[in-house]
Amino acid sequence: MYVVLITGGTSGIGRALVSEYAGRGATVVTCGRDTRALDDLRAEGVDSLQVDLADHAGIRRLLHHVRKTYGRLDTLVNCAATHHAFDPAHPAADGPLLDISVDLLAPAHLSLGALPLLTASPSPVIVNVTSIAGVVPKGRAPGYSAGKAGLIAFTDALRHALQGSGVKVVDLMPPPIETPMAAYLNVGKTAPGDFARLAVDRIERGDQVIRFGRNRWAGALHRIATRLAALLVR
Ligand SMILES: NC(=O)c1ccc[n+]([C@@H]2O[C@H](COP(=O)([O-])OP(=O)(O)OC[C@H]3O[C@@H](n4cnc5c(N)ncnc54)[C@H](OP(=O)(O)O)[C@@H]3O)[C@@H](O)[C@H]2O)c1
Repeated sequence: MYVVLITGGTSGIGRALVSEYAGRGATVVTCGRDTRALDDLRAEGVDSLQVDLADHAGIRRLLHHVRKTYGRLDTLVNCAATHHAFDPAHPAADGPLLDISVDLLAPAHLSLGALPLLTASPSPVIVNVTSIAGVVPKGRAPGYSAGKAGLIAFTDALRHALQGSGVKVVDLMPPPIETPMAAYLNVGKTAPGDFARLAVDRIERGDQVIRFGRNRWAGALHRIATRLAALLVR
C-alpha cells in the first residue's frame, strides 16, 4: 500500500492529482469543504473528508484519520489554496488573512504534523504547490502572494532541515492551469489532467524544484539571488 494525502481534491489541480495518483495505484485521501464534490469523490472510492484548512482542529482531525485508518503516509501534497482579490476601496482584512492561513499556515501545520508518519515510509515525499506570485508578488492578491512567498521559503528551508532524512521536499510551481482559481487569467492555460501527469512524473523522478515554461526562468533568477544573498549572511 502507498498512501497519498492530497488537500484540495475537490477542484482543479488537486482533483486532477487525485485521479493521477489513484490511476497509478496509490490509496488516496483528500479533503475540501464542498459537500457535493466530496460525495462525487467518495462515489469514485476516494477517501474524502470535509475539512476546513483554516481550522487547526480540522487539520489535526485529518492527520488523526490518516494515522488511525492507514497507519502510514508516503506522500503529502499540499495543494489547496484560496486566492482573494484585494479591493483597495474596501480593504477588509478577512480575504488576505484567510489566504495566509490556508496557503501557508495549513501546509506548514500538515508538513510538520505528518513528519512522524512520513519518516516511517521507505520513500517519503512532501509536495507543496506554490505559485509564481510567491516570487513576483501580485497587487491584486497580497495575502495569496505573501502566503505563496512564505510557502516557497518554508519548502526550501524544510528541504535543508531534512537533508539526510530521506524525506524529499518538493516545490511544485504550476504554470497557468484551467481551473476556477485561474478563471480571471487571460492567457493560454494547460488542462489540469495534463499538468497532473507531468507533475507526478517529475515527482516520481525525484525532482524537488519543479517549474514549467516562463516560471522556470523567473524561479531560477530567484534561486540564484537567494543563493548569492546566503553567501553574505550565512
Ligand atoms: N490554476 C493555476 O493557474 C495555478 C497556478 C499556480 C499555482 N496554482 C496553485 O495550485 C493549487 C490548486 O489551485 P487550483 O487552481 O486547482 O484552484 P481551485 O480549483 O480553486 O481549487 C482550490 C482547492 O482548494 C480547496 N480549499 C480552498 N480553501 C480551503 C479551505 N479553507 N479548506 C479546505 N480546502 C480548501 C478547495 O476546496 P473546497 O472548495 O472544497 O473547500 C479546492 O479543492 C493552489 O495551491 C494554487 O495556488 C494554481
